[in-house]
Amino acid sequence: MHKANRFRRESMCGIVGFLGKKRKTTFLIDKLNLLEYRGYDSAGYAELSEGKIYYSKKVGRIINLKESINEDSEITCAIAHTRWATHGKVTETNSHPHLSKTEEWAIVHNGIIENYEVLKKNLKFSPKSDTDTAVIAERLEELNINTIEDFIKSFDDVSGSFGLAAICKTKKNTIFLGKRKSPLFISQNKEGDFLIASDPICFKDFGTDYYCFEDNEFAEVNENGLTFYNSNLNIIKKRKARLDSLFKSYGKNGYSTFMMKEIFDESEALKNQVAYYKSQKIFEPLNKEFLESFNKVKLIGCGTAYHASEIGAKYFQKILNIDASAEYASEFIYNEPLLDNNKTLFIFVSQSGETADTLGALKIAKKLNSTCICLTNVMYSSLARLGDIVLPVAAGVEVAVASTKAYTCQLSALYMLASHLGNIKNRRNINYFDEIIKLSDKVLKFDKEQLNKLSSFLKDCNECIFIGKDLDFITAKEASLKLKETTYINSSSYPSGELKHGYLALIEEGTRVFAIACEKKLNIKTINSVKEAAARGADVTILTNDEGLKNEENVIYFSEENEFLLPILSIAPIQYLSCKTSLLKGINPDQPRNLAKSVTVE
Ligand code: G6P
Repeated sequence: MHKANRFRRESMCGIVGFLGKKRKTTFLIDKLNLLEYRGYDSAGYAELSEGKIYYSKKVGRIINLKESINEDSEITCAIAHTRWATHGKVTETNSHPHLSKTEEWAIVHNGIIENYEVLKKNLKFSPKSDTDTAVIAERLEELNINTIEDFIKSFDDVSGSFGLAAICKTKKNTIFLGKRKSPLFISQNKEGDFLIASDPICFKDFGTDYYCFEDNEFAEVNENGLTFYNSNLNIIKKRKARLDSLFKSYGKNGYSTFMMKEIFDESEALKNQVAYYKSQKIFEPLNKEFLESFNKVKLIGCGTAYHASEIGAKYFQKILNIDASAEYASEFIYNEPLLDNNKTLFIFVSQSGETADTLGALKIAKKLNSTCICLTNVMYSSLARLGDIVLPVAAGVEVAVASTKAYTCQLSALYMLASHLGNIKNRRNINYFDEIIKLSDKVLKFDKEQLNKLSSFLKDCNECIFIGKDLDFITAKEASLKLKETTYINSSSYPSGELKHGYLALIEEGTRVFAIACEKKLNIKTINSVKEAAARGADVTILTNDEGLKNEENVIYFSEENEFLLPILSIAPIQYLSCKTSLLKGINPDQPRNLAKSVTVE
C-alpha cells in the first residue's frame, strides 16, 4: 500500500458517549444515527457495567447494531462509533470500539494515529485489528494507565490526529477524552447527565450548551463532574458555547430525503442569511482600510465549495476589477504559492469547516501572514475558529452529502461580500441585501413537472454533458458534479466553446446535453454550440434567461436581470433534477456510495 494511504483508515468517523443516570442503550444509538450523514460502513458501542465492558460491533447500517442490542438494556457509561473506511477492510474486527487484550480498555477514535506502526512494535501483544486505533487501546492497558494524568502523558509520543473517548473496566462511571485536530464536544443537560459527540448536532434535544475541545485538550468525566486538562496536565477552565438554534430545524420535514428538503429550504435560507448579515452588521469591519489591504484574492475549497470559490473569484474580478482566482485546497497545499502574501486576501470556503484539505491550506496561508476569511456553514468548526474573519453561511444544518442550500448560500455570501467592497471602491450603493431577497422568491419557481419528465429520461442515460461559458461554465461543472454524485451517471462539463475541440466526437443520436446560457453577452455563443451538438443528434436542454427562447420546448427559463445572481437560479433546477433522478434509480441521494459529507482526512 502507498505510504500516504496507510494513514487513511479511520477517517470521517462519528463518536458519541454517555455518562449519567440510567438511560436506554437505544438513546445512544439514536444519537449515533444523527451522525449517519457523515457516511459510515460499520457501527459499534461499548458500555461499562459492574466492572466489565460489554460491546457489540456490526458491519453495515446502524440498524444492524441496534438489532444486536436488547431493547430494554440500559446504560450509565457508554461510548459508540460509526466508522467510514477509506482503506482497510470493512470488518467487525476493524470496527470500533477497539478493546485491549484483556478487555480492560475500550476506545472509540476519529482521526489518524500516524506513528501507530512504531507504537505497535513496542507492544507485547499485537492487536488482531490492523487499525491504528487498536494500538492505542492496547497501549492503555500495557502502559498500566490509571489516572487521567497517565492517560494524557501517554499521548506525548503519539503523532497524528484524534478525537477519542475511552472507558476502562476498573474505572467505574468514568470516560477519558482527548482531542487533537479531530472535533470533539461535550454537553451537560439540566439533569446533570453528560453527552459526548464529534458533532454538536447530537446535543439537539439534550442540552442547551456545550464545550468544544481545542487541540491537545483532554478531560475526565465521571460522577463528580467534568474536568478539562491541557497537555501539561494543568486543569483548565473553559467557556460554554450555546447550541445553535438552527438545529431546531433539523429533520426531513415531510420530504422523503434530506437532499430534497434542503433544496426546498433554499429560498428561506437565502432570506435568513440576509437577515443575519443585516442584524449582525457582518460587513461593518470590512471597510476602506480593509479593502486597501489587499490587491489579490485567492479563494480555496473542495468539491462544491470549490465551485463556489470559482464563482466568487469571478465576482471579485468583475465587480472589483481585482486579480482573483480559485484553487482546489488539495492542489494549493502542494504548490508553493507565488503570491505577494501580505497583499493577498485568502477566502476559504467550506460547508462543514472540517475538510482536512481546506484546513491544511488555511494553515499555509496563516503561516504566510495573510488575512484569511473563512466562509462556513458551521460556526463551531475548526475553520471558523482558525480564520481571521468568519463569514457565516447561514444555510442551517445540511445533512445530505450532496451540497445544495449551502452552495447557493455560499454564492450569495460571496456576492454580498464582493458587492459590499465594490460599493466602497466604486462609491456606489447597490443594495445587495434587497437583491438577494428578491432573488430568494424566484429560486424555487422552476417547473417541477418539466423536470420530473426529464428525470424519467435521464434515469436511463449512461452519459451526459453540461456546457456553458464563463460563470455558466462553472455552473455546468457544479451541475455535472451534482448529477454524478447522486445518480452515478457519468457526466462531464465543458466550456461551450471547447465542444468542437474534442467532445463533439462523442456526440451521437440521443446524447444528453445541458446548456447553461444565462449570460446575455455570451448566450449566443453557447446556443451556437448547442446547434452543433443538436445537428449531430444530441437531446439538448437549455437553461437560460434569454426571453427569445422562453417558449421553446426543452428550455428552462429564468427571468433575472442580475447576471451575477443567475448561478443561484440556474443550479437549483439541476439539484432538483439530480435528486429526482437519483430517487427514480433507487439510489439514496442523501448518502451516495463511497462519498462522505465531511472529508476530514487529506
Ligand atoms: C465532500 C462532500 C462534498 C463537499 C466537499 C467539500 O467531498 O461530498 O459535497 O462539497 O466535501 O466539503 P466542505 O464541507 O469543505 O464544503
